[in-house]
Amino acid sequence: MNVLVTGGAGFVGSHLCEALIDRGDQVVALDNFDPCYSRERKLQNVTQLRGHSRFNLVERDLRDLEAVTEVLAGGSFDVVVHMAAKAGIRASMRNPSAYVETNLGGTANLLEAMTRTDCRRLVFASSSSVYGDNPGRPSREDDRAVPVSVYAVTKKSGEDLCRAYTAMQNFSALCLRFFTVYGPRQRPEMAIHKFTRLLLDKEPIPLFGDGSMERDYTYVEDITRGVVSALAYVSENEGYEVFNLGSGKPPVTLNELVARLGWLSKSQPIVEYHPPPGGDVARTCADIHKAKSLLGYQPQIDLSEGLELFLEWYRGGDADTDHVTEPSRGRRSS
Ligand SMILES: NC(=O)c1ccc[n+]([C@@H]2O[C@H](COP(=O)([O-])OP(=O)(O)OC[C@H]3O[C@@H](n4cnc5c(N)ncnc54)[C@H](O)[C@@H]3O)[C@@H](O)[C@H]2O)c1
Repeated sequence: MNVLVTGGAGFVGSHLCEALIDRGDQVVALDNFDPCYSRERKLQNVTQLRGHSRFNLVERDLRDLEAVTEVLAGGSFDVVVHMAAKAGIRASMRNPSAYVETNLGGTANLLEAMTRTDCRRLVFASSSSVYGDNPGRPSREDDRAVPVSVYAVTKKSGEDLCRAYTAMQNFSALCLRFFTVYGPRQRPEMAIHKFTRLLLDKEPIPLFGDGSMERDYTYVEDITRGVVSALAYVSENEGYEVFNLGSGKPPVTLNELVARLGWLSKSQPIVEYHPPPGGDVARTCADIHKAKSLLGYQPQIDLSEGLELFLEWYRGGDADTDHVTEPSRGRRSS
């Protein structure tokens, strides 16, 4: 396949690019190196890929319609995987217009550029946050989505934009709702990465609320396997679908996550509790039956193994600065 991956220099995007190169695809990664975290870290994410003859990294901004159209026009892409976004719930509440501009405006530009260039297959990285507060049973794709943060609103609206385009003849879109992704190269402000840094530096770990907030933590390679299956599905099926990609396991509280990291790293956590900020939900938990049955999605890495792999990566290099080493698992063969 010939695949365009927006946000290809980011955490999940770079893992996906590696998986696609591994299976023989031609990949263009489009990224603007958004300053939400450092450019050096993102360049490090794609260091190995950049030497590959089937990989090309283009620095473009999705907010620039003409630039995106130019990339699409030059590529004859079979499918686009749209990973680029401003990610992060709390930051979206502090800077809402930037999130709307990139996540919604950027998605609209991408869809417009795709129709201009007759590229009609899209996989969109959506988020579990679209469900809003859903304390009961695991969230299903047909549950009502009531987003409670600006970020979640942009993701839900992005899904709606994708669906609107599938009203056009021969345009297919698949929206994948990722549940808290973790693993090597995780964004530095995300819980597992941040908690590990603080834990190993023997600094206090800020937990919001009483630490009972629960998350469905999903290992990045399980997510990329799900996305790869979605590429086949969107190529063979017309129309619009939404799928949850979660761990398939019960969610884990923040308190338990910190305790597990402490145990695995043989460090004693110092925890500080803070009032919960707006926008966060109490619990995320995916019902993954639909993805299992239609995509053949089957998560393989449980939290204990995934945390060990993360710690191995973290300790293998200086992940706390911009010199990030490659993970020992899931490394691309070149
Ligand atoms: N990591 C998670 O737990 C998680 C959970 C749910 C959904 N998602 C979604 O998955 C996708 C990837 O997330 P991630 O954790 O890898 O984030 P990330 O920040 O590491 O990757 C996003 C990439 O998009 C790029 N980008 C941002 N604005 C852009 C623009 N205007 N033009 C071009 N590129 C731009 C960034 O530079 C970055 O490299 C995002 O869409 C995110 O919303 C992630």
